[in-house]
Amino acid sequence: MTTNLAKPKIFVARQIFPEGLERLRAVAEVDYNDQTAPLSPSDLSIRLAHVDGALVTGSEKIDAQTLGQAARLKIVSNIAVGFNNFDIQLLTEKNIFATNTPDVLTDTTADMGFLLLMAAARRLSESEHWLRAGHWKNWSLGGMMGVDIHHSTIGIMGMGRIGQAIATRALAFGMTVIYYNRRRLPEEIETVCQARYVSKEELLKTADHVMLVMPYVPENHHFIAKKELALMKPTATLVNIARGGIVDENALIHALQHQQIFSAGLDVYEGEPNIYPGLLDVPNIVLAPHIGSATKKTRLAMMHLAIDNLLAGLNQQRPPHLINSELWK
Ligand code: DGY
Repeated sequence: MTTNLAKPKIFVARQIFPEGLERLRAVAEVDYNDQTAPLSPSDLSIRLAHVDGALVTGSEKIDAQTLGQAARLKIVSNIAVGFNNFDIQLLTEKNIFATNTPDVLTDTTADMGFLLLMAAARRLSESEHWLRAGHWKNWSLGGMMGVDIHHSTIGIMGMGRIGQAIATRALAFGMTVIYYNRRRLPEEIETVCQARYVSKEELLKTADHVMLVMPYVPENHHFIAKKELALMKPTATLVNIARGGIVDENALIHALQHQQIFSAGLDVYEGEPNIYPGLLDVPNIVLAPHIGSATKKTRLAMMHLAIDNLLAGLNQQRPPHLINSELWK
């Protein structure tokens, strides 16, 4: 991989920062899609057909269709921690490494969760739109009242790295932390986060603010739907920084319109970048365009980590964040 003759071929599926491209071009032959929009699945499958490695984002679906012609592919490196865009079973069957970028985005994404929580609870978007529309005539005692964040109870669904980072932020606000996870956390982590493990139902009934941070897997599809929303308090907020498919957006619209819950904050959407009809018309919701990890420092770190993964795999070394670790013997 160090001599010109042995240079591997790499496909970069989306525009990346120049320093990343430079790193790759120094060691590989790079086919670069310099666009910010994803390719169609058929174009993606053509570009994957003749490369040894690919650098992709969470919007490129790596599945039977796109891998159909990828005879020499050894590694697909995601510039994302979530990897629901990968068919992991198929990649493993095909002996192709799959990698992701955990850790480097934990705090930035936790900040975003907290931002959405605060904005939703205190009606920031709604009141800014109202002000910009010229409706603000007087300060009034009962104007734009929100719900408190400090000393309330936060319920975190999915207590991985990001969930834990949200818990530590919540403690600084004097909040009580409860959580639900597929598996209960070791006692040391519960102690650090001062978090109490509860059932999904108890969390929904008890929390003043529900924060969704779990990975998207088929079992979590519409994990929060009509039944779950009905269990929540009418004063509660719901924040989703995980993946869109976790929330039934139609049921959420209904719950917000009928004040079954107080407000919501979303960074992710089931059909993103298309927004479910009706979501834009609901006033008591804060909407962000999947920017949980979007600071320059963090996105650079994600890109470099994804390149580290890619180059390690191509050099027959164990990638730092190998998802299908059973391939590493
Ligand atoms: C992630 O890293 O999973 C973010 O959601 C970006 O896709």
